[in-house]
Amino acid sequence: MCGIVGYIGGKQAQQVVVDGLARLEYRGYDSAGLALVVDGKLATAKKAGKLVNLRKVLEEEPPPASTIGLGHTRWATHGAPNDPNAHPHVDCGGRVAVIHNGIIENFAALKAGLLEKGHVFGSETDTEVVAHLLEEEVGAGHELPEAMRRVCRRLEGAYTLVAVDAQDPDVVVGARRNSPLVVGKGDGENFLASDVAAFIEHTRDAVELGQDQVVELRRDGVTVTDYEGRPAEVHEYHVDWDVSAAEKGGYDYFMLKEIAEQPRAVADTLLGRIGSDGRLHLDEMRITDQQLREIDKIIIIACGTSYHAGLIAKYAIEHWAGLPCEVEVASEFRYRDPILTRSTLVIAISQSGESMDTLMAVRHAREQKARVLCICNVNGSTMPRECDGVLYTHAGPEVGVAATKTFLTQLVAVYLIALYIAQVRGTKWGDEVFAMVQLLATMPEKVEKVLETMGPVRELARSLANERSVLFLGRHVGFPVALEGALKLKELAYMHAEGFAAGELKHGPIALIEEGLPVIVVVPPRAREVLHDKIVSNIQEIRARGARTIVIAEEGDDTVVPYSDTLIEVPAVPTLLQPLVATVPLQVFSCELATAKGHDVDQPRNLAKSVTVE
Ligand code: F6R
Repeated sequence: MCGIVGYIGGKQAQQVVVDGLARLEYRGYDSAGLALVVDGKLATAKKAGKLVNLRKVLEEEPPPASTIGLGHTRWATHGAPNDPNAHPHVDCGGRVAVIHNGIIENFAALKAGLLEKGHVFGSETDTEVVAHLLEEEVGAGHELPEAMRRVCRRLEGAYTLVAVDAQDPDVVVGARRNSPLVVGKGDGENFLASDVAAFIEHTRDAVELGQDQVVELRRDGVTVTDYEGRPAEVHEYHVDWDVSAAEKGGYDYFMLKEIAEQPRAVADTLLGRIGSDGRLHLDEMRITDQQLREIDKIIIIACGTSYHAGLIAKYAIEHWAGLPCEVEVASEFRYRDPILTRSTLVIAISQSGESMDTLMAVRHAREQKARVLCICNVNGSTMPRECDGVLYTHAGPEVGVAATKTFLTQLVAVYLIALYIAQVRGTKWGDEVFAMVQLLATMPEKVEKVLETMGPVRELARSLANERSVLFLGRHVGFPVALEGALKLKELAYMHAEGFAAGELKHGPIALIEEGLPVIVVVPPRAREVLHDKIVSNIQEIRARGARTIVIAEEGDDTVVPYSDTLIEVPAVPTLLQPLVATVPLQVFSCELATAKGHDVDQPRNLAKSVTVE
């Protein structure tokens, strides 16, 4: 949440910062602002609303040229999303400018102390205390890096901070506790950002900052220390995607591009993990076969769409690996007393690797001595560093706020893990694992096939744009697919949408069915006869009560035809793999319906892609 950019070099900082913010807008779009250092003074501009509003301000009143600056795009926590609360925040004398991502938990006490000393505040934010604390430190003669270290020692909470001092045009300083911050190393220029996407057009050489580190960015170098000023160890890496991956590539929305990229994303996530002998190789997981043999329980923790991937993982793990598996919303996990031992494997699923709820659950699990593996899409993010092992999804950068391609690749990752555990523990014969892996390898073309037939789904979505409510039903792995379909519709179309286990319907929700209510039903493959026939009965029950039935079933499933007002066919695949094909029409449906309502599907209201506060 909140996007941060800092720059120092030879280019026009305004351009670099604003272009960087454009790539970080997925992190928040309540307001945007920047500060430049110009001849011993700060030039700042900030505006509520999306970045386009700030751009207008900059066009109307262009700030003077500068080669050092910082910028911010906000997802509001403390204080309304208005102009005064927009970042950067400055101190009383307008000498120091600060941007921030996270929450400073002890800000009220710090603010009270500063007010007593006569500091004047211009916003309701927690961030502004940092500007005034830095003011005191630089006023006392400390250079900005040391001032930042001294201030950070007094802060509680999760935060990333970046600051400039008008009286020192040669340094940008950043600090990191929990919230993400990466350095981009250029030639005679350096960058700081919440995500490499902000500087990818300038450099692909990145430095991952660790916990409680302060970074000093100069034109000719980068120095990282801990809060005491001791040199800190950092991890340098090369970003393996380029600027084109972070651009719309001719699509109206990133979301459309990302939906279209799914066959490739699925293929890339499988790449290099299936040996020529058909066996799976997941050595990068950093958990040994012996350790996997010792596991007696798996707990999956995740939020939102990643949680839905976790729910599907449960079916795969229990079926293939024969291990008990629990799935829990990460934000609830550490507030009960989960029973964890050294033989519990916790799997954290997180696209961003930064969701604070999941990160805190990971830390809790590790404190309880469980082994923790994460499934993550972002190299250099916090979770992979803090877990015992990691399996990266190779979806490439996902900019649209709603998760699409990363969900499909998370499914691939959980299938791989479940099959790998089965292979190691011998819960399935080698040839059974091999056969399933072969089927998994055909999934990119199956997903492609679904995408080729989405015309009628788009048409259907447009025809339902004025509905007030849509229900989603599924059984077995179709149930999490139904939940995911409902989440996509809620977040993009702002409509009432709910997913139910079809069997639960008669226990209450069936009361919601009324004449003409659209109900989308995910039907399991015919091969799962019992499941399949039960859901066909459920479809009849809701239809008898007036529901308009929209049925997603495998191609050639004639049994559902009489009960489907609209039939969406997907390729025939084994039951456990069906979410890979059944989710795609739901993504397309929500995207199209929301677009028909005039919504910006890349930046749905109130949301941010990376939820870095609890
Ligand atoms: C929904 C969506 C969110 C995320 C959730 C977890 O489309 O994107 O529900 O899935 O915020 O985020 P990660 O996976 O980054 O931990």
